[in-house]
Order: sequence, then C-alpha cells, then structure tokens
Amino acid sequence: MQKLLIAYATRAGSTAQVAEFMGKVLREAGLQVDVMPVKQVRDLSGYSGVILGSPIRMGSVLPELIRFVKAHAQTLSRLPLAYFNVNLTLMDDTPEARAIVDSYFNPLRVICAPLRVGAFAGKMDYARLNSLLRFLLARDRDQIPEGDWIDWQAVRQWTLELLPLLQGERTSA
Ligand SMILES: Cc1cc2nc3c(=O)[nH]c(=O)nc-3n(C[C@H](O)[C@H](O)[C@H](O)COP(=O)(O)O)c2cc1C
Repeated sequence: MQKLLIAYATRAGSTAQVAEFMGKVLREAGLQVDVMPVKQVRDLSGYSGVILGSPIRMGSVLPELIRFVKAHAQTLSRLPLAYFNVNLTLMDDTPEARAIVDSYFNPLRVICAPLRVGAFAGKMDYARLNSLLRFLLARDRDQIPEGDWIDWQAVRQWTLELLPLLQGERTSA
C-alpha cells in the first residue's frame, strides 16, 4: 500500500497540530500516513507522496524546512508534493493577506515546485514563547492578540482536495 509523509517544522506546536490533523483526515480516507518533524525524517524511500509544513516567523518559513527541501530536492521533484504554512497574516483573511502568505512559499518553490500549496491561520499563545520573545513582543500585544484562529474545516477541505493529487503520478517537476 502507498504511504504518505507529512513532515513539519514548528516552534510553538500549532503547525504540528495542523500536520497531525491532516494525517488523521488522510487515515480516515484509508491511506497510510506518517506524521513527524522534518528533523526526524531520514529517508524518503517508501513514500509515494509528501506534504511539508512550516509556521511563518518574521516573514519566512523556518530554516530547517528549507534545508530539508534542499537536501531532498531530487527525490521530492519526482513525488507528488504539497507545501503548507501556518501564519497569523490570515487572522484577517483578505485577498491582500492571501497574496502575502502565498509569497512565503517562494523560497521553497524555487528549490522544488509543489503541486499545491495551502496557507492557514494559526495560533498565538504567549505562554509557549521563550522569555526573550515574550519580552520583545510585549509592546505589540495589542496588534498580535493571544488567540486560536485555526479553521479545522478549511484544513480538512484542503487535505481532502489534495488526495487525488497525492495518489497520482507526478508528471512534471
Ligand atoms: C516571533 C514570531 C514571529 C512571527 N512572524 C510572523 C510573520 O512574519 N507572519 C505571520 O503571518 N505570522 C507570524 N507569526 C505567527 C506564527 O506564524 C503563528 O503563531 C503560528 O501559528 C506559529 O506556528 P507554531 O506554533 O507551529 O510555531 C509569528 C509568531 C512569532 C511568535
């Protein structure tokens, strides 16, 4: 049976939650799925499709995800591949915000083009940040309130729409 990989980077845990949820949705659809941090992935052999996710910090996906895509670019270019990011720009889901979060995929796109990308609003939980970040962000707390904006229905829909792509053959890089 074909097996899919969902690998993610995270700092405060919300991207991991989104990745685990995607895994649950795909397993419920009858697929075999491994979900793990990118740092734990040693080998892509045995996977027939890959989903890679990262939060956005300071306008960028996390460096370990970029390193991962670089290191495995040749293999990834032959597999059905999708990227997702988790951000707070989509707290306010406007066309402008969509354009911004889409541009965050560009550093990944130039290494390995995906079949699909998805961007989702995440969470801000100050208790999960280290003390330096809490201090630095304290004066912005009005603009960046604490909260949970994850739209699980949107994540489910994106994942299910991905299903036929992940199960298909990759014809172009
Ligand atoms: C220090 C810091 C910087 C961030 N920078 C951005 C940013 O540039 N753009 C954005 O949309 N969200 C930004 N966010 C919001 C995160 O993407 C959001 O909180 C996400 O859910 C975090 O994912 P994680 O829990 O997997 O680490 C930032 C959050 C923190 C704590």
